Amino acid sequence: HDATLLEEVKNRLRDVPDFPKPGILFKDITPVLADPHLFHRVVDAMAAPFRGQRIDRVVAVESRGFLFGAPIALTLHAGFAPARKPGKLPWRTRTERYALEYGEDGLQLHEDAVGRGNRVLIVDDLLATGGTAQATQRLVTALGAEVVGYSFLISLDFLPGRERLGRDKVCSLLSY
Ligand code: PRP
Ligand code: MG
Repeated sequence: HDATLLEEVKNRLRDVPDFPKPGILFKDITPVLADPHLFHRVVDAMAAPFRGQRIDRVVAVESRGFLFGAPIALTLHAGFAPARKPGKLPWRTRTERYALEYGEDGLQLHEDAVGRGNRVLIVDDLLATGGTAQATQRLVTALGAEVVGYSFLISLDFLPGRERLGRDKVCSLLSY
């Protein structure tokens, strides 16, 4: 990676202590989005490992994943499909449930979001436990498509996300 880009992004992420809960240090990406030149370079860098491969669809996860997934889809000349929390998508859906620290959540895709044999890139801002991305992977494969890889802005490598998804398929700009 471009070392100066990584430094710039690191310096621009805003650390917010005790958000959303006491003890959590939240990495706020909004200062990156606010800088058009930096945002553009981040999108290009997140797309770069997948350039020159056939990508039919980018699937990104509500809500922060949309911010990076849609521009990455455009730059890769791929279609875009949103994975959303249950009850948000208007048409026929597939649902996958996944475990949270306390309790459970779900994600949905429209049944025609990806097609049989499609090559899919999954995008999100952050890889933590990998639960969200793994549920997205299960949705994509249940619809008969293939997950080519994952692109994240940030991965937390003290958590098992990267192993859960398969090391060789996961790209992230920054790791902590
Ligand atoms: C955050 C983040 C990822 C997910 C990563 O989303 O944007 O989507 O958690 O966590 P995991 O790897 O442990 O599953 P969040 O649920 O906070 O919602 P948001 O994107 O709507 O802010
Ligand atoms: Mg999210």
